[in-house]
Formats: sequence, structure tokens, C-alpha cells
Amino acid sequence: MPPVGAQRPSEQTQLGWGGRNAPIEAVAKRPVSVANKSGASVGAPLSTPQRKDLAMADDYYRVNLPESEMPTQWYNVIPDLPAPPPPPLHPGTLEPAGPDDLAPLFPMGLILQEVSGDSHIDIPGGVIDVLRLWRPSPLFRARRLEQALDTPAKIFYKYEGVSPAGSHKPNTAVAQAFYNHSEGVTKLTTETGAGQWGSALAFACAQYEMECEVWQVAASYRQKPYRKTMMEVWGATVHPSPSQVTEYGRSLLDADPDHPGSLGIAISEAISVAAADPAIRYSLGSVLNHVILHQTIIGEEALLQLAMVGETPDLLVGCTGGGSNFGGLAMPFLREKLAGNMAPVIRCVEPAACPSLTRGEYRYDFGDTACTTPLLKMHTLGHGFIPEPIHAGGLRYHGMSPLISHVYELGLTEAVAIDQTECFAAALQFARTEGIVPAPEPTHALAAAIREAVACKESGESKTILTALCGHGHLDLAAYEDYIAGALADFDLSDEALAASMQAVPALA
Ligand SMILES: Cc1ncc(COP(=O)(O)O)c(C=O)c1O
Repeated sequence: MPPVGAQRPSEQTQLGWGGRNAPIEAVAKRPVSVANKSGASVGAPLSTPQRKDLAMADDYYRVNLPESEMPTQWYNVIPDLPAPPPPPLHPGTLEPAGPDDLAPLFPMGLILQEVSGDSHIDIPGGVIDVLRLWRPSPLFRARRLEQALDTPAKIFYKYEGVSPAGSHKPNTAVAQAFYNHSEGVTKLTTETGAGQWGSALAFACAQYEMECEVWQVAASYRQKPYRKTMMEVWGATVHPSPSQVTEYGRSLLDADPDHPGSLGIAISEAISVAAADPAIRYSLGSVLNHVILHQTIIGEEALLQLAMVGETPDLLVGCTGGGSNFGGLAMPFLREKLAGNMAPVIRCVEPAACPSLTRGEYRYDFGDTACTTPLLKMHTLGHGFIPEPIHAGGLRYHGMSPLISHVYELGLTEAVAIDQTECFAAALQFARTEGIVPAPEPTHALAAAIREAVACKESGESKTILTALCGHGHLDLAAYEDYIAGALADFDLSDEALAASMQAVPALA
């Protein structure tokens, strides 16, 4: 493994990064943004006076950051933590997995980010030029929801549904396609649960003229046919998972032709195809350090936007599937918290039907069902766990990002699990006041934000709540149809089922 901190911006340039859309020099010529200034000295207070030029009237609804203020660096929280997260292990040797172990699946540019000890990493010009299609994303003050709740709390939401694919996922999809393209990779494979990640990667691959092959969890493939069409519009090939394409998929279909699939299975299928061909690499939409790194642009923007209106959050809430939208919003705020500049409570929200942080065990387990990934130290429900078919397909993952798990173990964040009917009730209240129809995943964060706002009404406190509205639900209307028809159920996960699933987790000392 290279020394931590091996990746520096100057070396990135030597590696030939820069992309065909914009040379790396284009980044150097950009005016240094406030994000860079604040980021350069970790923990420097984000003073409101800095943002005086952009300050807004008091009755704003929407806080827009000008395009020229878009952050030009990603933030890596690892060097600022009191201890580094435990490394991934090679499943054969049980030694820490090094870059060479990851090289069959990922390009070196991303592997170096995965192990980087640098706090800040420049966003290449070829990535920025695509992100500018929709970034900076808006921050909203949910005044109409606040009014409906009759709460003294202030509720803010950072809305990622403005991206072409409709969620936060393109923030990392574009970066991953860019680094793969820069190293000569011509095709990416991936899994998708809700269809949001597959759409994001299909869109990103189209930007760099790469092929894209997606395994969509069978339950979601059947529930959301238009996600498949969207991926095909951007040029991707889509299979339901388990599929007839891979040996593993065929073995599962032989046993159960109606297998609903899971993210763990779809990951196994996508990995097996990439590992067999050196021109193909695999792309993961969550969990890994480099994915969370790419998503930190969300939190960096939100810090600047809150500073524009003179606000500091008391509570941050985000939904956690593999942890990337939550991590993307939370990590820059955690930096400020660790530096003593603010003290928000930072809360993960997960589905009660797939409660890895609140009911899983913190131990080494595989990231996929066929046991092909390195062993990851994370909160897990067992790699064979097949979650009930809740509508938040993107939250149906047995594990968690090792970084999010580690930060949780350090006591820097907290977690709650919420049933889907409470989440959809929150989503309807939100849609009927604020207008946006949320994706099923962030309804969890909205439900938690509403719980807190209601508690504020009771206590009389005027807390500032910031939540990640990480995607819209325009292609998830079947879920809303079920909820409105009263056909949506909550699922109890029994201790016995959980214990049975945990039995397959490797016993490591
Ligand atoms: C809209 C949306 N939100 C959240 C998630 C969960 O992923 P993560 O926890 O990595 O943000 C997904 C995953 O597919 C998603 O599509």
C-alpha cells in the first residue's frame, strides 16, 4: 500500500488526468473560490462576513450559490479523525488489501483516492465541466412545511434532484467515469437498486463515450420500468439481477426463477463481468471512501449557502443505504464540528427493515453476496441478508460504508431506524407543502426532520435542521400509489432472522 497521503494534486497532473472535455490547466485558471479558501485551512470558521457579497434578504425560500462559487476541491475527513478507519482485508490472506488487490476492478486514480491521507483533493476540470450542468444545487428553507407543522424550528433541505438522473449519484458517477476514461477503460459495469445509481452511471458514461452495463435488482427492475428506459436512453445495457448473463445469476435463478434479487447479488454479477476482462472496470455507487469523497461537494456547498443566510445547523439528518449522500452532506460539517466551529448533532436514518447501523454488528464482512469483495469492517446484517422489498430500494443494503461505520463507532454521529409508512406520510406532507415529490430513500431523512421539528414545537426550541433531499421520486410513483391505496406494509425484522443471517459472517479475531 502506498504511504497514506501519496496522492497530491501535482501527481494527479503527472498521471495524465485532465479529460478530453477540459484540460487540467482549466482548473488552475479558475478563480480560487471561497470553498478553497476555507478548505485550505481545515476548520477555519466559515465567517458570515466572507459571504457578505452574497448575503440574502430574510424572507428567502431558496439559497442559490453562483456557479462561480462552486467548490473546486473534495474533502477527505480521514486525516481529521482521531483514529483512521480499519483497512479492508484481502479475504485470502486477511492482510490489509493494497492498491494491487483493487487494481483489477478500479482505475489507479480512484484507488489512490481510496487510500489518500490528503484532506483536500482538487476536482479535475473534466469533472467540473460536467458537474456544472446542474451544480451548485439549491438549498431550500422549507418555510411552508414549517408553517404546516407549526414549529419554531427552521428546516433546510439541500436538493440533489436537480441532477440529470434525479439524485446525488451523478456527483460520483461523473468522477468515476472520468478517471476510468483517463486510464483507457472503455466500459464500466455496475449494480443498481433503486435505479438511480444505474441511471447516474449511464449518464456519466455517455459524457465520456464509454459503454455501461447495469445489473438492476430484479424487484426494482419490475417496479420501475422507466428507470431501465432512462439508462437505455443514455446508451447503457440493463439486466435484471439475478440474470442469465453470469454463472452466479444462473445458479440463483435455477433455485428460484422469481428471485427478487438484492444489491449484494447485483454487485457480485457486475464484479464478475469486470474481473474477467482487463478493458472493463467495475463502478460502485456508494460505500467506498472515494465515493463519499466525491459527494462532499454537497456539504461544501451547503456550508457556503447556510453562511449566506447566517445559519448554523443544530441537527443534520440524512438517509443511509451505503452512506454516500449522508457522508457527502455530513463530512464537511463534521470537519467544522471537530474544529470547534459548530456543534450539530449528526444523525443517520435507515429503514427499520434494513437496519445495519442500529441492529447490525460492527465486524468484517463481504460487501457482496457471492463473497468476492475484500472484507470490509462495517455494520452488517450479514452478506446473505435479503431485505424485505421496501420501496426505498437504495437503502436495501446489508452493510454500510466502513467510513460511516467508523465515524459512528467513534461516537461522532448517531442513528435511528424508521418504518416506511411513517416515511411516506412525511413525504406526502412534504410534497403537499414544498411541492417536490421525494425519492423513497430521502423520505427517511424527511421523517426524521419532521420528528425533530415536532419535538421543537413541544419544547419551544428553535433548532436549525438541515436535511439531505438526495433525489426526486418521479420514477417511484408506484410506491406512492401503494401508499395512497393503503397497500404499503411495514416489516418486522426478527432477532432470529438476523441471528441466522449473521451466522455466515466470517469469524475473525
Ligand atoms: C435517491 C437515493 N438516495 C439514497 C440512496 C442510498 O445510497 P447512499 O446511502 O449511498 O446515499 C440511493 C441509492 O440508490 C438513492 O438512489
